[in-house]
Amino acid sequence: MGAIIDGKRISDSLKEEMKAQVIALEKQYGRRPGLAVIIVGENPASQVYVRNKVRAAEYVGLRSVQITLPEETSEADLLAQIGRLNADPAIDGILVQLPLPKHIDEEKVIDAIALEKDADGFHPGNVGALWLGKPCTLPCTPKGCLELIRSTGVEIRGALAVVIGRSNIVGKPMAKLLLDAHATVVIAHSRTRDLGALTRQADIIVAAVGKRNVVTADMVKPGAVVIDVGMNRDDEGRLCGDVDFAAVKEVAGWITPVPGGVGPMTITMLMQNTIESFIKRESKTH
Ligand code: GUN
Repeated sequence: MGAIIDGKRISDSLKEEMKAQVIALEKQYGRRPGLAVIIVGENPASQVYVRNKVRAAEYVGLRSVQITLPEETSEADLLAQIGRLNADPAIDGILVQLPLPKHIDEEKVIDAIALEKDADGFHPGNVGALWLGKPCTLPCTPKGCLELIRSTGVEIRGALAVVIGRSNIVGKPMAKLLLDAHATVVIAHSRTRDLGALTRQADIIVAAVGKRNVVTADMVKPGAVVIDVGMNRDDEGRLCGDVDFAAVKEVAGWITPVPGGVGPMTITMLMQNTIESFIKRESKTH
């Protein structure tokens, strides 16, 4: 039976370190890092995510601002809000929770966030820098997944990593991070012909599809590291991932649970990104 990668425990310990770091930063620079989280509309899942992000920010001692806008907010009003946060010296990180209502162009909104305050790493300037191998803000979920893989001590260099899913938020940046860590990377997706034939060879599997039971026990090589980014509901309404956890944990060497795996790490990486933005911004002015 494989070992559980306890994302909750790892993220709790990182948050404790950040708490101390924030106190030291406030002493040094006379202010705390500031994070603004914008939510538009009443998507229940987004409301939970935003609440958890703001709670974590408060826990580590950041200055946190939550801006809740009604569903009917115009694109122009949202862009104006972002403009104000861009100009606010007390704000180091800005996050606009996705998805946005249909009448708002997400791309335009992400582009409007000042590059140096893009806490999500979604701005084209950060995406471009990531793919060029330049310093950048990394997107929180793949950044957290990489930390979880590293926590196992399994060597990434030379490993075969299969990333299932090709989203801009997870799949694509995850593949680049694994590539940078010298893995051989395969990006699989909904049109992939024989997913099992690929995953059975994988030393590392990252499942980021958004569908239950995409990875079953017969698809996993004994001892592999399995990272589950999925956030789905089973027939009883319980939160579950993309991986058949109960069966795969018997085969895998390491596996993340849902909940308690990738989710807490994503939020903790957002705190880390905000602190990193603060340090970059402050060291420019001091
Ligand atoms: N919606 C789902 N995941 C994310 C995320 O990581 N950041 C933002 N802003 N919205 C999301």
